Amino acid sequence: MFLDDFSLQDNLLHAAVLVSPVSHGVIKELNIDEAISIQGVEAVITAEDIPGENQIGNIIMDEPLLAENKVHFIGEPVAVVLADTPEKARMAVSAIRLEISRLPSVTDPREAFEKGLLIAPPRTFSMGDVNEAWDRCSCIVEGRADSGGQEHLYLETQGAFAVPMENGCIRLTSGTQGPTFVQKIAARILNVPMHKIEVDVGRLGGAFGGKEDQATPWAVMAALGVHLTGRAVKLVLNRNEDMTWTGKRHPYSSDFRLGLGSDGAILAWEVTYYQNGGAASDLSTAILERTLFHSTNSYFIPNVSATGICCRTNLPPNTAFRGFGAPQAMFVIESAICKASRIMGISPMEIQEKNLMKKGDSFPFGMTFEGTEIRRSWKRIYELYHKDNTRERIMNFNSSNNLFKKGISFMPVCFGISFTNTSMNQASALVHVYTDGSVGVSTGAVEMGQGVNTKIAQVAARTLGISLSRIKVETTNTTRAANTSPTAASTGADMNGNAVRIACGNILSRLLAHAVKHSGGTEEYSAEMKDETVHINGEATKLHWEQLVNLTYLARISLSSQAHYATPELHFDKTREKGRPFAYHVAGTAVTEITLDRLRGTFSVDSVRIVHDAGESINPQVDMGQIEGALLQGIGWVTMEELKYRSDTDALLSDSLATYKIPDIYSAPDKVEIEFLECFTPNAGVYNSKAVGEPPFMYGIGTYFAILDAIRACDPEITPIFAAPMSNEKLLLMLDHRNDGC
Ligand code: MOS
Repeated sequence: MFLDDFSLQDNLLHAAVLVSPVSHGVIKELNIDEAISIQGVEAVITAEDIPGENQIGNIIMDEPLLAENKVHFIGEPVAVVLADTPEKARMAVSAIRLEISRLPSVTDPREAFEKGLLIAPPRTFSMGDVNEAWDRCSCIVEGRADSGGQEHLYLETQGAFAVPMENGCIRLTSGTQGPTFVQKIAARILNVPMHKIEVDVGRLGGAFGGKEDQATPWAVMAALGVHLTGRAVKLVLNRNEDMTWTGKRHPYSSDFRLGLGSDGAILAWEVTYYQNGGAASDLSTAILERTLFHSTNSYFIPNVSATGICCRTNLPPNTAFRGFGAPQAMFVIESAICKASRIMGISPMEIQEKNLMKKGDSFPFGMTFEGTEIRRSWKRIYELYHKDNTRERIMNFNSSNNLFKKGISFMPVCFGISFTNTSMNQASALVHVYTDGSVGVSTGAVEMGQGVNTKIAQVAARTLGISLSRIKVETTNTTRAANTSPTAASTGADMNGNAVRIACGNILSRLLAHAVKHSGGTEEYSAEMKDETVHINGEATKLHWEQLVNLTYLARISLSSQAHYATPELHFDKTREKGRPFAYHVAGTAVTEITLDRLRGTFSVDSVRIVHDAGESINPQVDMGQIEGALLQGIGWVTMEELKYRSDTDALLSDSLATYKIPDIYSAPDKVEIEFLECFTPNAGVYNSKAVGEPPFMYGIGTYFAILDAIRACDPEITPIFAAPMSNEKLLLMLDHRNDGC
């Protein structure tokens, strides 16, 4: 069941939201008289009605729930209408008189920077000395790389419903990745203690980061409606509202300078990222931090200076999206390498390979790379590439075809796993074994289609030594798992799985101790549960899981456990920008082959081959699904998903599925081959598995550079542009020499 599938009680109110139609302005008049007089309308809520603090900010307190005097983006909520039906609620929204006098707006991050519109002071990560290194470089390339935003397009739009409980408590069912965050902000807005708000999450119809922070306002509005009317309230955005009002992946514009030795070794890397934060901070500073952590992707560069600038603009606040700032960083360094390869007259692969990190190499933020996966995945991809004579095949094709040209690219990816905010790396679980031997597991992890509940059930079954069919993963609920971090940063299964492992381990050791006692054994006896049967000193006994559970219960021993997990050994010093922010890295390499139609400016992705490190996967099929989905989402980001705004009003033009194109089965690669790298990283994630949600997104970036490779085969004189997405229009103009390049 998704949010909209629940049948709610009869006296339910439906909420609709009035938002600012103007990207920047001062509210001159807000008149709700006519709206409130419509029959069936119960209430119209404005900022004045908020009993607590009108503030939904998380990292920086700069975002009101409902606008007070000014509006800062199209889609900024101004009032909430509660009515008998969603139709009446939306009708009443249009009856509210809202007059705004327009102020000049800014939508470009560089312009915002020039005007001093910053969300936070710039930060710089550095290593070595770039200024001293330029003299030693035989090739220095400079340029600019831009990447666009991206609509999350989760199938289930944002929504929530709230039900009044006794003693002023509210039960909130929210489509959020962060139940605790919703609870905390609802308590802040209503001015009630957090224990009055219970947040429950069944599952989400997709999220991709778009419900990490931005599920909150809608849930809080529903809670506010309950608080003010005493009736249940439901609020679900329609697709157009969701696309227009909510934030997206951050567009970036970046300046780079890359210095290389004559052998292709990268000696220096200087980069400045202008991040388009939108009108409120949301998670922008955290996302920009991850950009800085990934400025060198999979490469070791001895001299680095990377600066991130978080710019405030008049777009909806941009937010978390799979990869969380890392894709933007990787696009820039790959652009620089592409540009250098042309100037030096060598292939990009040569530069890439030469500079891949080795075990023991340092990242600019002080952590060393502790694995061998980067080079091993590259080597394996290179073997596959040679085995079927890819290079020769492409050269033959290109020399015998004029209208179609093939292009190829290698895309190494190295992604750090952990929340970069160290304190967020904690999770908890509550496990109950019932007297019939069935098991209920609660954690802070939110299922959003990524399969985390499947993995958690597997971890419980494996730890307890019983069948998967005995495990039920419960909803994510703040009364069972408190003070949770959002399910984000690819850490859901790692951290919550580890908490489940610990909780199940606690129960199991009580059960086994009782089994030994029951069999008349002593403390020296060793016992384990295998295939639901108690084994003592290596021998199977007649004692079965169900019997043991019941005996242990009768002996008045607890069959429940709560456990907490905190990722060990993480630290980061923000004054020096050094530390060990990640538990481990996930690495891999993709090789992408495309065919370009130079007459039409279209292309098809022929194949993507990926060698990926998933550790000792808990569920290879789930991981495979994540890799395929992420790859396609990455290809969409760099090739077709384009956000267009009106230049005069800043209104989003690509606000529906008719105008915003995401990859479908026809744009998917004809062939996707995924191979897991054999890899053992002790204590990476739970049971030595590795996180998988975000890293494969960045394999999609390879498609952009495969297209540039094909363009080069068409005409080596064409200046490549580094401005994702490479839409068909852009491609056609470039082929026709009608683009200036950069
Ligand atoms: Mo995810 S982009 O860390 O919600």
